[in-house]
Amino acid sequence: RRLLIDGGPAAHARNIAGKRLSRAPLPVGMVAELTYRCPLSCGRCSNPVEASRREIGTAAWLARLTQARDLGVLQVHFSGGEPVLRPDLPELVAHARGLGMYTNLITSGIGLTARRLSGFDHVQLSVQHAAETAADAIAGLRSHHRKIAAAALVREAGLPLTVNVVLHAGNVDAVEEIAAFAAGLGASRLELAHTQYYGWGLRNRAAIMPTAAQIHHADEAAARVHGRYDMEIVYVRPDHHTGRPKPCMNGWASRQFAIDPSGTVLPCLAAAQLPGPSPEGSLAEIWFDSELFNRFRGTAWMPDPCRGCDLRELDFGGCRCQAFQLTGDAAATDPVCSLSPHHQDLVPAGGPRPAVIPRRYR
Ligand code: SF4
Ligand code: FES
Repeated sequence: RRLLIDGGPAAHARNIAGKRLSRAPLPVGMVAELTYRCPLSCGRCSNPVEASRREIGTAAWLARLTQARDLGVLQVHFSGGEPVLRPDLPELVAHARGLGMYTNLITSGIGLTARRLSGFDHVQLSVQHAAETAADAIAGLRSHHRKIAAAALVREAGLPLTVNVVLHAGNVDAVEEIAAFAAGLGASRLELAHTQYYGWGLRNRAAIMPTAAQIHHADEAAARVHGRYDMEIVYVRPDHHTGRPKPCMNGWASRQFAIDPSGTVLPCLAAAQLPGPSPEGSLAEIWFDSELFNRFRGTAWMPDPCRGCDLRELDFGGCRCQAFQLTGDAAATDPVCSLSPHHQDLVPAGGPRPAVIPRRYR
């Protein structure tokens, strides 16, 4: 690919950003959230509850892709919502590919066709459950059989397939069945990730958060299926239960950024909720110079106990958006950390569950 020939991302950043290189790391990945529209209604969705319906057009996406490549970005993750709903997806993917970038499709599989797969290097297919009735109930649509067909399309195209299953109270007891199902789909990788409580997932937290006993059983089931199939299995334990925060985005504005459907450039998928103006300008200006991208970069912003903690370079104080959602202060230590002064305020799952509110955005 071109980036290996012409000196790689560091050379690009020196060319376009000059002395800025010494002040900030370079981004490797970009998440292109093409649309929030989606045929499914999963209550665990991390998309914002109050989402703008505005979508930028093809020319704006093409320009951002070119800027991203110039900034050094190597991987583009086309996501949503459901990105295949955008008619210009093939054009955007071809452009990214022509720039030498690795292209990943993150999809529900609904609406996927062989043409829509053209130009992609990898596909990540979301699956709700191994059992059809349960899967369709979670998705709010008869979709399970269409996902099986989508997986077959990916295999026929010769592309590597990752099956992604977001775990919550509605499917967490079926980890072994889900692993068998993913192996049957021909996945080379299975990601079992507990729900991140943003957007609709946060709104439905009381309805979908597994109990401590359910998580314990899921941990054990994940350990049992590990190595059982010719498939990599990645199981991510939930930070709400481990007392250890996740190194969200591998550190704020450190490796990746996202662009939402309205064209707003963000350090992570949930950052639009944080107070302050949206960054403006070219991607290089936003990445290196914007207040938002510099707000939590590095470790100087950290409060106690992170400031003096040996783990601050490993987890970066956790997730800024989660800290904001749970404390009202995006600069606070992530409350899922057992050392956070807010940790004891976290409410564990238990008691009667309210009904899941389906995500509504079509
Ligand atoms: Fe991470 Fe901060 Fe907790 Fe230390 S105190 S483990 S740096 S979140
Ligand atoms: Fe925004 Fe974690 S989702 S920092």
